[in-house]
Amino acid sequence: MSTSKTTVPFSRDSLDQVLKRRFFFAPAFEIYGGVSGLYDYGPPGCAFQANVIDTWRKHFILEEDMLEVDCTMLTPHEVLKTSGHVDKFADWMCKDLKTGEIFRADHLVEEVLESRLKGDKEARGIAAEVKEEDEDKKKRKKKVKEIKAVKLPDSEVAEYENILAQIDGFSGPQLGELITKYNITNPSTGGPLELPVEFNLMFETAIGPSGQLKGYLRPETAQGQFLNFNKLLEFNNEKMPFASASIGKSFRNEISPRAGLLRVREFLMAEIEHFVDPDDKSHAKFDVVKDVKLKFLPKDVQEAGQTELIEKTIGEAVASGMVDNKTLGYFIARIYQFLIKIGVDSNRLRFRQHMSNEMAHYAADCWDAELQTSYGWVECVGCADRSAYDLSVHAARTNEKLIVRQPLPEPVTVEKYEIDIAKKKFGPKFRKDAGAVEKWLLARTQCELEDLAKELADSGKITFKVDAIPEQIELDTDFVKIAKVTRTEHIREYTPNVIEPSFGIGRIIYSIFEHQFWARPEDEARSVLSLPPLVAPTKVLLVPLSSNPELQPVVKKVSAVLKKELIPFKIDDSSASIGKRYARNDELGTPFGITIDFESVKDNSITLRERDSTKQVRGSIEDIVRAIKEITYEDSTWSEGTAKLTPFETQSTE
Ligand code: GLY
Repeated sequence: MSTSKTTVPFSRDSLDQVLKRRFFFAPAFEIYGGVSGLYDYGPPGCAFQANVIDTWRKHFILEEDMLEVDCTMLTPHEVLKTSGHVDKFADWMCKDLKTGEIFRADHLVEEVLESRLKGDKEARGIAAEVKEEDEDKKKRKKKVKEIKAVKLPDSEVAEYENILAQIDGFSGPQLGELITKYNITNPSTGGPLELPVEFNLMFETAIGPSGQLKGYLRPETAQGQFLNFNKLLEFNNEKMPFASASIGKSFRNEISPRAGLLRVREFLMAEIEHFVDPDDKSHAKFDVVKDVKLKFLPKDVQEAGQTELIEKTIGEAVASGMVDNKTLGYFIARIYQFLIKIGVDSNRLRFRQHMSNEMAHYAADCWDAELQTSYGWVECVGCADRSAYDLSVHAARTNEKLIVRQPLPEPVTVEKYEIDIAKKKFGPKFRKDAGAVEKWLLARTQCELEDLAKELADSGKITFKVDAIPEQIELDTDFVKIAKVTRTEHIREYTPNVIEPSFGIGRIIYSIFEHQFWARPEDEARSVLSLPPLVAPTKVLLVPLSSNPELQPVVKKVSAVLKKELIPFKIDDSSASIGKRYARNDELGTPFGITIDFESVKDNSITLRERDSTKQVRGSIEDIVRAIKEITYEDSTWSEGTAKLTPFETQSTE
């Protein structure tokens, strides 16, 4: 709720109705009964999303010279096996064997404990609430019925609060223990539940008619960016650091998606992979953002069962070590600036650090930008340090080097293990597999070579397995020699680390709807979506005062100027009152209205109305369109953009 604009409490029901009525989005396949977690966007939803993406491209890709790629969504099994997703990309679910209902275990525990805490509050404060909320009796009664006003022992209240502060950090077995300890059952039937079991979230498929090539719909766009690392580095003239970026759909077979756009099975992601030297995670532009003030929820606070936010600048957060490095800090601040630009309420935005046991399998550190909604705090952007994980595992699996080779300012002397292969003997011994065996040997790390050297020295041979060759391979010193040598090196080779800001566009969009939705206090039925002009689906509503044909030439003229300036607009020449026409567009988030009246015919002047304040100004077509342009695209406020225009008092058309 845009609290500064209204005294009317936020109503998710009203927002849902508006979003449905104005077709921002709707359940997919609705006339077939719909499928949960799948949604279609209607015209204003598409336009809003396109504007958010356009702003994202300018804010990140253009500003940072990022290299955009568009990779396939269909991904072979082998890639996602290597990345760890086949084995580890899972949530915990529990089943009610009687009804067949399936619950996501962490969400179930969270919902049940939260509702018990609410019930406890109701039970403790019920007398006061009855008096205060008399006029809202109906709603309150409903709430009490749903929540069950039961007082909990004081010690249990503290335990619940502690668990909820760490709810994202529990493993499946730990969730099972909580379910048993607190007697958590199916909330609708009270029936018992099975203990949590792991469920992989990827959609599996087969690529091609033979069904032999197993694959998945990608769960993130990141993997395509990693696999193209060498091409991107070359495209960037071998210069480091650099970032790639990708915008596209990803897919996750969510266990029981029930929170509208916040939990969906097919969704638009915008992801950045910033490749950086692991020994130097500074950022050339960190000083530009160092004074940006943010609200943080670090892991140690959560691990102590607390949720108080710490407010400090990103400069202080990095200096104190709370945020690990300047590159991570730079992106956290840039994420904040982007979210504010597109309409997120800064009071309802926090950066929460993942607890150690909550991190994705590839991450070394992670901060989520979370937005507060009526569903609670929602992870909308993840900013993870993926270290060298992905490039290393793909390099090891494919034997392709995914590294940076950097000329050293001064040559250095190093001791290292080197392998010498008697290549001529490999062909006769291994035939078609000779290349794969050679490649395997040449891809070994220094640590692995050290172990192999010891094995060779101790037993006169090494034994190993190469993927795709069924037999164990054995080589003696006639085939391979491994020795520690001293070399002068002019080049440093390293695997870059990756800082990854990853945006869930649908979640951000829905949270902005909640942050910017409010009702006019003088008439609660009139709601407004205060989307910033930059991202609003349509910028201007053109309203001729009447259907009198005399006004048409001016409508045409204004339309032509708006078209020429590429300002999206709509004409509403229906017979509804002006107030009604504006009210419809307030719900669509249209920031400006232009009224054309009989004066306009005489002197080319038109009226400009601002959605939130309903203030109006009058001026020539050119001056009004210039003001719209400045406010929408050039960062001017209403007062700045309309300073030279004449304030206009209307005969109450609102
Ligand atoms: N690439 C980030 C994520 O999968 O959430």
